[in-house]
Amino acid sequence: MRVAYSDFMADVAYDRIGRGYANTRRADPRIAARIEAALGDARSVLNVGAGAGSYESADRKVTAVEPSAEMIAQRPSGSAPAVQASAEALPFENGSFDAATAIVTDHHWSDRAAGLREMLRVARHRVLILNADPGLAESFWLTRDYLPGFLDLIPEQYRCTGYWEEELRGLLGTMDVRPVPVPHDCRDGFYQAYWRRPRAYLDQKVRSSISVFHQLLEAEVSTAIEQLRNDLGDGSWEKRHGHLHEERELDVGLRLIVSELDRRV
Ligand SMILES: C[S@@+](CC[C@H](N)C(=O)[O-])C[C@H]1O[C@@H](n2cnc3c(N)ncnc32)[C@H](O)[C@@H]1O
Repeated sequence: MRVAYSDFMADVAYDRIGRGYANTRRADPRIAARIEAALGDARSVLNVGAGAGSYESADRKVTAVEPSAEMIAQRPSGSAPAVQASAEALPFENGSFDAATAIVTDHHWSDRAAGLREMLRVARHRVLILNADPGLAESFWLTRDYLPGFLDLIPEQYRCTGYWEEELRGLLGTMDVRPVPVPHDCRDGFYQAYWRRPRAYLDQKVRSSISVFHQLLEAEVSTAIEQLRNDLGDGSWEKRHGHLHEERELDVGLRLIVSELDRRV
């Protein structure tokens, strides 16, 4: 049996699965530039689900919120101060920050709506969410051809195209949805990052910093990885996906959601 998502996250999962996270999960400068541009004139920023500190701007006054001690321990020395807390109960007064960000984290929260409401409460001007639209998960070759079980990890309603965006709109009000294409040499090793470097998925160290691989059964993962290894060896992967070598960046469903609270309706 796979671990149900609620059980998977019931403890502080990243204390267990986050070891070595910072080895392969580093801010990609091109994605960071998009976040920076969207933050605009924000001086103070709350980074929720901050992990090891990726995408935190050195030029702003950043406060990090992170529930996992293991992740906090991986923050480089000199990085923004981190408060050990969860999105669902942010220990700050209303309107404490110019902006609040949540970077590839909200799918891990036990109550996403509560976390977003908290971000809206503590931010004065802007809320930013960066994550992959789960309704587009099947468009990625790794999921479609090798790990279809990944789709079962996504709660059913989120598998429908558009649901994720509509839910966010319902909570955040007016928002801008900006596709974030992933560069072929992306420095941040998230699940879709290696879309043009399929051999990377054969590496246990790469997989260990990606939560999906911890949620699926070990047998399911090893079967998928063996199949990928064979397909790379006999040219089948190349035949199906070789055209990707011509692309420098790809839309794998990553979206930057920007809600300007001053213009919220
Ligand atoms: C994939 S990591 C992303 C970390 C960082 N934002 C980055 O871009 O590298 C997801 C993070 O969300 C954190 N997280 C999980 N549940 C959370 C919650 N309820 N509130 C805030 N953060 C949470 C995890 O501990 C983990 O550090």
